[in-house]
Amino acid sequence: MRSQIFRCGVLAVLLMTVWPSAFSFTQSQAAAGRLVYARACGLCHGTSLQGGAAEALSGTAFARTWGDGRHQAADFFAAIAKQMPKNAPGSLSQADNLALAAFILQSNGYAHDAEPLTLAAFAGALPAAPASAALAASAPAGAAAASASFPQAPRSVLPPSGSGPQDAQLRYVADADWLTFNRTLAGDRFSPLAQINTGNAQHLQVKCIAQLGEMGSFETSPIVHDGQMFVTTAHKVLALDGATCAVKWSYNYVPVDPEHLPGNRGVALYEGRVFRGTTDGHLLCLDAASGKLLWDVRVADGALGYEITGAPVAFDGKVFTGDAGADTGIRGRIYAFDASNGALVWAFDIVPHQADAAGASWSGGTDRGGGATWSSMAIDPQGHLLFVPTGNPAPDFNDADRAGDNLYTDSVVALDLATGKLAWYVQQVAHDLHDWDTAAAPALFAHGGERVMAVASKNGLLYQYDLDTHQTLSQAPFTTRSNVDALPSAQGVHVCPGALGQYNGPAFSPLSGHLFVASADRCNVLTRAEPHYVPGGVYFGGMFRMDPPALQSGWIEAFEAPGGHEIWSVHRKDPVLAAVTPTAGGLLLTGDMGGSFLALDAGNGRVLYEFATGGPIAAGISVYAVAGREYIAVPSGSSSRDAATATAAATLIVFSVP
Ligand code: HEC
Repeated sequence: MRSQIFRCGVLAVLLMTVWPSAFSFTQSQAAAGRLVYARACGLCHGTSLQGGAAEALSGTAFARTWGDGRHQAADFFAAIAKQMPKNAPGSLSQADNLALAAFILQSNGYAHDAEPLTLAAFAGALPAAPASAALAASAPAGAAAASASFPQAPRSVLPPSGSGPQDAQLRYVADADWLTFNRTLAGDRFSPLAQINTGNAQHLQVKCIAQLGEMGSFETSPIVHDGQMFVTTAHKVLALDGATCAVKWSYNYVPVDPEHLPGNRGVALYEGRVFRGTTDGHLLCLDAASGKLLWDVRVADGALGYEITGAPVAFDGKVFTGDAGADTGIRGRIYAFDASNGALVWAFDIVPHQADAAGASWSGGTDRGGGATWSSMAIDPQGHLLFVPTGNPAPDFNDADRAGDNLYTDSVVALDLATGKLAWYVQQVAHDLHDWDTAAAPALFAHGGERVMAVASKNGLLYQYDLDTHQTLSQAPFTTRSNVDALPSAQGVHVCPGALGQYNGPAFSPLSGHLFVASADRCNVLTRAEPHYVPGGVYFGGMFRMDPPALQSGWIEAFEAPGGHEIWSVHRKDPVLAAVTPTAGGLLLTGDMGGSFLALDAGNGRVLYEFATGGPIAAGISVYAVAGREYIAVPSGSSSRDAATATAAATLIVFSVP
């Protein structure tokens, strides 16, 4: 699941047709709220609450998130008063916050009244928005209805102007390039560049900075080919010069379907085309040279909570992607589209149909069984296999309708590149009740005569498997694990790790034979409740509450491959969600949610260089070369709900040595 701190108060109350009198607000309050909104909120949420850099606060988006009659009014008010405005949380007066609440409610069809809104009104459930009953009635019956009509082929298809990189370049990535989310198809994240190394890392300096003009989640992994860099924000794709940060082109996507949680993890680059997903469920193809839209596939129904946030991978004439949004009760699938025209080549059901063989691992409930994939994927060209990490079953914290192992959730599935047929799978967490996705793409590598797959699960364990026999070689904890067997209950149980962990995976250095993995060490109180399905709304079957920021921290660790023996471990006071990047210069590059970019000695974990970027780092750090000079690209400023404290705007900072 993606970050959801305050959206979770699910109460089993009937839709209220009569408003509690405590919930009135006055016309003058709403009018005052309109002015505060224009000054403090419109920048991100759109001048008429229609959404922009951040989600819409009106219409179906509001109805799904808050106005279904089942959400706690206190959570809605806390979202405004404690978490907003995102760039200065909690900075407004209580009177302004109440006025804002009145204005947002009025904009969603709630009528004003003679009594002003006061804090006392926020004790119970938020009454249903007048529009939301209609929404629930008119919405399709569920994911099953959606899969009949999706994906929808592009209306038009244009050719690209360029042609690289091609399969051969993806098989053997040039030292100067960073071609996929985790650099290579195998996803080891190792850069063979050594100009920046343990001897000169302390002389690192900022070479250029690009402000990308969007705020919110920023989790992109910069892709670099021939000195040209491609990054994404929730809605933008930018092509930049890797040495100067000069923006060559910028494409801004305006969602056409409802978005759930705006966010994106980067592009795939292939044969002159750039591919990215969108949070309203589309897959876009742009011309790498100009940023022009070449085609747009409506992959799945955004109105039902389907989104595409992971970085696609392209190879063998196809572009591979999958559905995210397990926490809204989707039924996840993996897709291969023809890279040239967006035609569907095959689809694989992560959550099977009840009649499929794997359907026996569910007692029912496969229609909304979750099984999202949302970071990226790996490919073994020799074995002709695609390796896809899969996420939690839904509803997250309530298993009443899903007895069994719930295949193929919380697994890595290996699919035939040409047909999508399942070759094999390993499930890290069977019958998950903790939201422990296998979120990060695995790393595939050869070491000591063995071919290995390393997987970092949100359950805090680093798994290593033999790629040929599929046997588990080792299993090692890389973050605090406590009370791992406790199940969500009505009173709540405290469990570590929590639900907001790991979406960046392990990295492997062939020089040392070590695996590196970072973690967000933060625990949750998990509560179980009756699940209520509202199309496109959250579908947790309970809720989770994060530990306060002061109790959160992070780890960066090195392990032996394939034995899993720990080599070293570094504790950070802030969670580490960013990817880790080992280099041939003996460095390990990463960043933390406190905003520090870090260059460590990969041999012992010693910090050789630290730079305060001013914004949380939650993305991939890429290493590449332009005209013979090595650079490090650090995406900073991820202000999603993952960022407990710091906020900033999406910024790309490029480092090098003199
Ligand atoms: C700088 C950008 C920014 C500004 C300004 C901002 N917000 Fe937000 N807001 C966000 C983002 C991003 C989210 C998504 C949640 C997250 O990642 O924290 C959000 C989430 C919310 C939510 C929860 C919506 C949901 O569907 O879960 C509400 C309500 C909200 N904001 C209200 C406001 C109000 C009221 C203001 C003005 C006082 C405001 N915001 C100002 C960026 C902003």
